[in-house]
Amino acid sequence: MSAHGPARKMTARTSLPLKGQADVPGDKSISHRALIFGAMAVGETRITGLLEGEDVLDTGRAMTAFGAEVVQHGPGEWSVHGVGVGGFAEPEDVIDCGNSGTGVRLIMGAMATSPITATFTGDASLRSRPMGRVTDPLALFGTQAVGREGGRLPMTLVGAAEPLPVDYVTPMASAQVKSAVLLAGLNAPGQTVVTEAAATRDHTERMLRGFGAEVVTEKTEAGYRITLTGQPELKPQTIAVPRDPSSAAFPVCAALIVPGSDVLVPNIGLNPTRAGLFTTLQEMGADLSFENPREEGGEPVADLRARYSPDMKGIEVPAERAPSMIDEYPVLSVVAANACGVTHMPGTHELRVKESDRIDAMAVGLRACGVEVEESEDSFTIHGLGAGNVPGGALTEARLDHRIAMSFLICGMAAKKPVTVDDAGPIATSFPIFEPLMTTLGASLSLANS
Ligand code: S3P
Repeated sequence: MSAHGPARKMTARTSLPLKGQADVPGDKSISHRALIFGAMAVGETRITGLLEGEDVLDTGRAMTAFGAEVVQHGPGEWSVHGVGVGGFAEPEDVIDCGNSGTGVRLIMGAMATSPITATFTGDASLRSRPMGRVTDPLALFGTQAVGREGGRLPMTLVGAAEPLPVDYVTPMASAQVKSAVLLAGLNAPGQTVVTEAAATRDHTERMLRGFGAEVVTEKTEAGYRITLTGQPELKPQTIAVPRDPSSAAFPVCAALIVPGSDVLVPNIGLNPTRAGLFTTLQEMGADLSFENPREEGGEPVADLRARYSPDMKGIEVPAERAPSMIDEYPVLSVVAANACGVTHMPGTHELRVKESDRIDAMAVGLRACGVEVEESEDSFTIHGLGAGNVPGGALTEARLDHRIAMSFLICGMAAKKPVTVDDAGPIATSFPIFEPLMTTLGASLSLANS
């Protein structure tokens, strides 16, 4: 059993060329924010293209528990009737955020400056992840938090009744931490400031501006300084969620390593704070093209075409690029195994506190597939074997981590022998249509225990 129901052991076999159009789901980061910010606006926010993955649905249920009205009107079409900044009601029961670090950390920020108490929990993966990175800055507003040892869930937050504005420098590159502080700052008087050394995804800043808040970003010597003016009235919005570049990464990377492939992924969000993977792949020699670039809902988007690229080379991935591709390292390491030469990925220590320890999960699974991998606390290195030369033939562990499960299935599509993941269930958190979408493109995926 996994937290997602009985384990779904899945096998990927050497694939025929992947061909066609991959309509990947809506962006997970933007979907969480659309629901949370909609719940903090006065009136009705309309959303199209919402990701209906478990993570986002958990956030929708949480917003209902805090008093917003969240209604589904059709596939991807939702409305949120918000209660206004500071209008959250006290939930009657524990808030279960499932597998979602983004969900729990942003919601903690959103309730932290209201005079209410809420208790949060999640699945085994989320209960093992650090929450101190969020509750430390929230304490500066006056929020109290009591959790398990090491700042783990379950955890109870008592919101500040008379919050103070905060000036905070994030100690790690984390959009979740930045966003939690900004969301808490919404209900504090005066200006709340967050400074981050490296730019992390800026969907919170963009969307808050769309909702009518005053958010100013300045480049300073210390990095990026974001100033939010507290206690705005957020005005409801109409939000078209772009498709998720982090989900697009899977069909794109599969197309690059499966011989004869040519896949088009339309309408992909290409916010520069998210697009580092595609730059990296192009540096490796990937055949990628961006067609029809445009802007939708305040976010840059384009149609992305990926073709089989047998001559990719290993590279040094710049450490400073890590925040813009932090979720893509697992699948990049699969591409790197199919490239010639060494790919070194420094500055990746944050991977150790994701849904799983992603450096360890990929290192163990890729070694089982016959790939040489070295790791240190904040880097890992793949010794590429060249196109189509990964032996495969292994049973790998997903560790309750959607991106690890999908990465090993992509690995199996181009390996000499099948690759199995012990549980594909977690894929439903971010990419519920992964299996039918990849199968329609031509991939060979099958449940191993059916
Ligand atoms: C996210 C931020 C990142 C990322 C996660 C989504 C967000 O986490 O890994 O999948 O939506 O803000 P960190 O803030 O921990 O880097």
